[in-house]
Amino acid sequence: MTNQTDDAFHSALWRIYNRRQPARPWEDGENLPWNDPEFSERMLREHLDQTHGAASRQRPEILRQVDWFWQQLDLAPGARVLDITCGPGLYTTELARRGVQVTGIDFSPASIRYARDLAAQEGVADRCTFIQADVRMALAEQTGQSYDAALFIYGQLSVFTRAETATLLRQADAALRPGGRMVIELLDFERIDKSDSNFWFTDDRGLWGDRPFMVLGERYWDTAERTAIDRFHVIDLETGAMQVIGLPDCGYETEEFLSLLHACGFTSAEAHRAWDNIGLYDAEEWITYVATR
Ligand SMILES: C[S@@+](CC[C@H](N)C(=O)[O-])C[C@H]1O[C@@H](n2cnc3c(N)ncnc32)[C@H](O)[C@@H]1O
Repeated sequence: MTNQTDDAFHSALWRIYNRRQPARPWEDGENLPWNDPEFSERMLREHLDQTHGAASRQRPEILRQVDWFWQQLDLAPGARVLDITCGPGLYTTELARRGVQVTGIDFSPASIRYARDLAAQEGVADRCTFIQADVRMALAEQTGQSYDAALFIYGQLSVFTRAETATLLRQADAALRPGGRMVIELLDFERIDKSDSNFWFTDDRGLWGDRPFMVLGERYWDTAERTAIDRFHVIDLETGAMQVIGLPDCGYETEEFLSLLHACGFTSAEAHRAWDNIGLYDAEEWITYVATR
């Protein structure tokens, strides 16, 4: 090890020692770095890995979910759907295969590239539009587009502050036609882990790097915000360089979220537990809301 590397490890460890405890949601990090080009390439591998469903669900589950959307959102060929945080377009493309016209928004460069390629390979590029942008900027531009339906799935809405979430829901409502429907998937408040904990692991290669790294992580539950934050200290074991990433997960009790949907303009909304038992491995963790403009 050079003196410079020694200094980097030394400084990383002192930064950890001096960290704020407990971490605060949004002040100590607001999301994973999905839009970082290298991280997004590594995350794309996780989305496509069929041995787990951590980033996107596995293909057989996606097909069951799309069948469910078809019924719940009253879809038919020719319908227009907005897929908010569409990732690599696994739902978008499947909907397009079934004749739907889909617009996907996501800020991960690797995912949007993959989504475009997939739509072209499947011969449905003419039914897919992908927008690479932060939804907090891009959703407002969809106002008045009269979509028949919108999706905001796999819990992604809960990384935003309550105020941002309300804005996003108002914007999504304004993007729908009257009577248009939206599916939002959030963790079941009762099942969110509300304890503080810490964890560490090492790997040669994975989501956090393409060479040996160590992750020192901790989780806090902020009672006032009703929000968890996972903070990851990711140390590159060759250079000692450290990245600190905070991932908030805002909890909503079911009644609170249904009231929020009404306050944001939706005329009716219902909560479905455990994905109506369509057969998803982690279905019990989730509440799926279907809201109508
Ligand atoms: C858990 S993945 C789910 C992707 C997709 N819905 C699926 O289930 O396959 C969350 C996605 O949200 C995207 N995302 C997170 N924050 C975002 C933001 N502020 N603007 C746009 N996309 C965002 C990420 O890039 C990622 O593709």
